[in-house]
Amino acid sequence: MYSKIAGTGSYTPEQVLTNRDLEKLVDTDDAWIRSRTGITQRHIRAEGQTTSDLALVAAQRALQSAGLAASDVDLLIVATTTPDMVFPSTACLLQAKLGMPQGVAFDIQAVCTGFVYALSVADQFMRNGSARCALVVGAETFTNLLDWQDRNTCVLFGDGAGAVVLVPSPEPGIYSTHLHADGRHAHLLSVPGSVCGGQASGSPTVKMDGGAVFKFAVKVLDQVCREALASNALQVSDVDWLILHQANIRIIESTANKLGIPPERVVVTVDRHGNTSAASIPLALDLAVRDGRVVPGQRLLLAGVGGGFTWGSALVRM
Ligand code: ACO
Repeated sequence: MYSKIAGTGSYTPEQVLTNRDLEKLVDTDDAWIRSRTGITQRHIRAEGQTTSDLALVAAQRALQSAGLAASDVDLLIVATTTPDMVFPSTACLLQAKLGMPQGVAFDIQAVCTGFVYALSVADQFMRNGSARCALVVGAETFTNLLDWQDRNTCVLFGDGAGAVVLVPSPEPGIYSTHLHADGRHAHLLSVPGSVCGGQASGSPTVKMDGGAVFKFAVKVLDQVCREALASNALQVSDVDWLILHQANIRIIESTANKLGIPPERVVVTVDRHGNTSAASIPLALDLAVRDGRVVPGQRLLLAGVGGGFTWGSALVRM
């Protein structure tokens, strides 16, 4: 038994922050941001809006597109770096908002690779028969973690959520997933804060060595995509769409170029969304499904990389 994606959904908050808006906050300019990152705007959560609120809309849209209800779901995984609270998990908070009293619910924290990790875990549950219907969500209010005076980081990120529904299938579906982590690189990208003795300690905003992250991302995205193709005896030409974590257009283009995948088969949303961390891949997938580019029967190669470092891929037939 395999799992397959039966529906997709996404949500971005209404408020848009453009590069021009950022020019008023930090010493930056639209041309620099666009040329170095490809980003022109990002969505920002409304006052009081939490990660589970964003996740709820994406999840409801995914269920609707699958023709299923929350009462059908027996596994709910939320990939997030920005949970509503320390505990309960955002998955449990979302479960309550969905009106879903049954099943298993938990969060996965693998930063920008979170959705690929969550999809892989859900796929294992489905393959071994532990779950019959999985809702997998990537959701972030990542702008909560930004220092709006640090131009090195605040221009890069945005808020959003994406979701997929998995159902059993006699044929793949999800052909394979490959996950990796190497904690020796933790210092290159982190939010080095914690809660201790009831107090926030350390620094609660993103710290990043942008150049090192860039080089690492391009290297491992290429590796993990090749690993996915090789393990399924497929060629680059067998893939209809490459959907990478949306961090920077130059990371996306370099990876596609190394793999030999032409730009017209690469889904890009970083221009509109910025980097939405765990939400970026399911957001990009849902947009490409809804605008008619991704259609049933096509093969997709999804791959992400993020803090940890973590990285991974999923080879999928829609
Ligand atoms: N506006 C104007 N100038 C800026 C800005 C800004 N917003 N940010 C940095 N600069 C300046 C720096 O201060 C530096 O100036 P200096 O040379 O006088 O010291 C200069 O621009 C740096 O220029 P470059 O090194 O050419 O910048 P680069 O091409 O490396 O781009 C960037 C920087 C965009 C951060 C890039 O390294 C990157 O995208 N790295 C990946 C980071 C990433 O994606 N992180 C997301 C999380 S991880 C993930 O999702 C994979």
